[in-house]
Amino acid sequence: MASANTYPRVLFSLDSYYVSEELGFVLPKPLDKLPPYYQPWMDVAMHVPELVQSQELRSHVNKMALLSTEFLQKHRELRLAHLALSMMTMGYVWQEGENNTVNTLPSSLAVPYWEVSQRLGLPPILTHADAVLANWKKKDPNGPFTMENLDLLVSLPGGESVRGFFLVTLLVELAAVPALRNIPVVINGVRCCDTEAVARGLEIISQSIQDMTDTLKLMHVYVEPSVFYGIMRIYLSGWKDNPGMPNGLVYEGVQTEPMEYSGGSAAQSSLLHCFDELLGVNHEEKSRSFLTRMRNYMPPAHKKLIQDISSQPSLRSFVQQQASERLNQAFRLCVSKLLALRSYHINVVSRFITVPAAQARRLREQSQSAEGGVVSRAPTALEATGTGGSGIMTFLKTVRDHTKDTLLPETSKEVNHHS
Ligand code: HEM
Repeated sequence: MASANTYPRVLFSLDSYYVSEELGFVLPKPLDKLPPYYQPWMDVAMHVPELVQSQELRSHVNKMALLSTEFLQKHRELRLAHLALSMMTMGYVWQEGENNTVNTLPSSLAVPYWEVSQRLGLPPILTHADAVLANWKKKDPNGPFTMENLDLLVSLPGGESVRGFFLVTLLVELAAVPALRNIPVVINGVRCCDTEAVARGLEIISQSIQDMTDTLKLMHVYVEPSVFYGIMRIYLSGWKDNPGMPNGLVYEGVQTEPMEYSGGSAAQSSLLHCFDELLGVNHEEKSRSFLTRMRNYMPPAHKKLIQDISSQPSLRSFVQQQASERLNQAFRLCVSKLLALRSYHINVVSRFITVPAAQARRLREQSQSAEGGVVSRAPTALEATGTGGSGIMTFLKTVRDHTKDTLLPETSKEVNHHS
C-alpha cells in the first residue's frame, strides 16, 4: 500500500512530460517542411505578412482546397501544421484591422485546423506553444542559440520586431532550462527530507530565474514598442472577451455555433505555472482563474506536469518545518527572484503597451492620428486589456503581490539561536 513514507521509492522525474533535457519546453528541432501534399498551406503561411499587407490573404485562403489531415503523422508534423494554420488564421481574421473582422473561418482552414488541434490537444488559435516553442530554426545547425543564429519559421506582420518578440521569448524559455531540471531535485529532496539537496536545487532555480530576467531585457533591443503596439499586437489577439469580435468565431464545417478563444500570450508558457506550484504561490481568485484557463492553451503533457507538481508535498511547509538557515535563505531567494522577474515584466508591459496606448489616446484626442504613425493605427479595443482580455496592469500587479505573499518571515536565525 502506498503511503507518504513510500514516496521516495518512485522518484519524481520529467521523463513523461515531453520536456527536453537540453531545451525544456521548447520543441527540439522543429520541422520546417510538411509533406508535399500540404504545399498549398505552406505557400500561404510563409507569406502571411506580405499577403496581409496587400490585403490578399483572405482571398488566397478562400481559394484553398480543403485538405485531409491524414498524411500528418509525426508530432513535429502536427506542430508545424498547427503553427502554419494558426498564422494563416490570425492573418485571415485581422487582415483588415479591428473594424472589418470576419464571423466565419472558411472550412478549407477551419476543418483541418480543428482536426490538427484535436490531435495535439491544443486550441484552434495561435498559442505560445506555436509561435515560440515550435517556431525556430538555427541558421548554422551547429551554432549556438543566439539572436544572430536564430530565425523564425513562420512570421506575422511587424518585420524584425516580430522576429525579436518571438525569439527573445524563446531565449527566455531556454534560460529557464536549469530551473526546470532542478524541479525534480527539489521535489525529491522534500520527499526524502534532504534539506541540503532542496536548498541546492532552489539556489540553481533562483539563478536560472535571474537569467530569465536578464534575457527578457533583450526585448528592448530587438522589439520596437510602436511596432509591437501599433502593428503586431492585433495579430496576437483572440476572439474571447474581445470587443472587436464580441461573438467569437464560427469554424465553418466544425460547428455552427461560434467559439471563443483567447489570444496568444506568454501567460501560456508553462514555466511560471511550474514555479508557482512548486513554491506554493497562492493567486487571488480572478487571476488564478485566468491563469488556470491559460493551461488549456499548453501542450497537454506540460499542463499535466504543472498539475503533478501541484499535488506534491508542500515545499513551503517543509521549509517552515526544517527551520534551516540555508534552506530558508534559498527559498526566500527563489521567491524574490520570481518576484523580480514579475516586476521587470511589468516594466516591459508598461513600455510596450501602457505608454504607446497613452500616446495613441492623446493623438486621437488631438485628432492627429494621421500624423501619429503606427501607434495611432492600433486597435482601440485592446488599449486597456491584455491579449488574453485581462485588465492588464491590475492583473499583473495582483499576480506579483500574491507572489510576494509567498515569502516566509525571516525567523530561522532566531529559531537556530534559541535551539
Ligand atoms: C514585449 C514583451 C511582452 C509583453 C508586451 C507582454 C505582455 C503581457 C500581458 C499584456 C500580459 C497579461 C495577460 C495577457 O494579456 O495574456 C502578460 C502576461 C504574462 N506574461 Fe508577458 N509580455 C511580454 C513578454 C513576456 C515574456 C518574454 C515572458 C516570459 C516567458 C512573459 C511572461 C508572462 C507571464 C508568465 C504572464 C502571466 C502573468 C504572470 O504569471 O505573472 N511575457 N504579458
